[in-house]
Amino acid sequence: MIIGILKEPEYEKRVALLPDNVKTLIGLNTLVIAEKEAGMGAFYSDKDYNDAGAKSVDRKKLLTDSDLIISINPLSADEISGLKENQAVLTAFAPLSNANLVKRFIDLNITSFSMDMVPRISRSQSMDILSSMATVAGYKAVLTAANHLPTFFPMFMTAAGTIRPSKVLVLGAGVAGLQALATARKLGAVVEAFDVRTAVKEQVESLGGKFVEVEGAKDDSSAGGYAVEQTEEYKKKQQELIQDHAKKANVVITTAQIPGRKAPILITKDTVDNMIPGSVIIDLAASTGGNCEYTENNKLIEVSKVKIIGNSNFPSEMPSDASKMYGNNVINFMKLIIDEAGNLKLDFGDEVVKGTCITHNKEIINERVKSNIKT
Ligand code: NAI
Repeated sequence: MIIGILKEPEYEKRVALLPDNVKTLIGLNTLVIAEKEAGMGAFYSDKDYNDAGAKSVDRKKLLTDSDLIISINPLSADEISGLKENQAVLTAFAPLSNANLVKRFIDLNITSFSMDMVPRISRSQSMDILSSMATVAGYKAVLTAANHLPTFFPMFMTAAGTIRPSKVLVLGAGVAGLQALATARKLGAVVEAFDVRTAVKEQVESLGGKFVEVEGAKDDSSAGGYAVEQTEEYKKKQQELIQDHAKKANVVITTAQIPGRKAPILITKDTVDNMIPGSVIIDLAASTGGNCEYTENNKLIEVSKVKIIGNSNFPSEMPSDASKMYGNNVINFMKLIIDEAGNLKLDFGDEVVKGTCITHNKEIINERVKSNIKT
């Protein structure tokens, strides 16, 4: 099988596979081609890819010759229309909110994999791009906030007086939130965190944060590690508590998300209007509407002297390590779908393969996507 590594769009500095990953694929008896300048944004040259065993080709040839096309961002609609039956794509295309693309792959009989759908079970942790990229985003969110803040993060006792530490409030203590918490603590801030999942209290505390709990959360133990929709009464209580804590914070980092839905509003306009002048909100959920009512996707805006940053691609700002993590996740998944002769072999008895494969032989394979598209 020929595997093609695409160059990402102009705005994206990451690449789906690095030269080290190429070596692994060649060891798995596949042939690898890479689009010219595919790794440029992440500081890898064509020569690096060639030395690893990949041939450099132009985009048109890559799209024609590859049996499996690998990218982070999906191909354009026109390029998808030009694919041949039985070609396969491995990308991250949010199929739960992208029904049209799923239908298109079915019509064209394209086998598609979406790395954002890798089931979140222990065996597939090494393939979980959402966790890897959330780690990058949580870290970068804190550094970005620190850059924009008019105050220090740590406490200083100097001859010129005592500087009080900044207060950081993290909303949503999943992968991104916990990474943000840990990074902010390392920089010396005082950190509080909220989450609807009370199970994370211990993790928050073990990283040196204070967990702020709202009473009456719905039981989420059977939701596979995801948050569940909460009652209106709970949301009202939560809103009041967040408003209270946000008013005293210098930085608010929001990461609250329920997969496949619009992000919940946690920071209202009223909350922003009552925050400390000069404070900063980093809204990591900007791409699905944002957790702050004012957030604009991929924009920095200033309202009531509060900066609100809705950057939805922080991983692209740390392209070398983000690509390394992404590429390793992809390779770990690919080991499940390549046979000894280096061809695609799909075992839908394996829940990781079944969960990540979205379309194959004109059928929807992932069960959540299937029921989502039926309804
Ligand atoms: P996750 O699912 O591990 O964590 C989300 C957390 O939010 C969960 O702990 C959940 O219980 C919590 N949550 C959900 N609703 C809530 C509510 N109403 N109030 C309080 N907490 C609530 O997700 P992960 O991987 O940490 O990603 C977090 C966010 O970061 C997502 O929105 C993701 O799309 C985004 N992200 C953004 C990037 C960027 O560059 N801006 C890059 C990578 C991820």
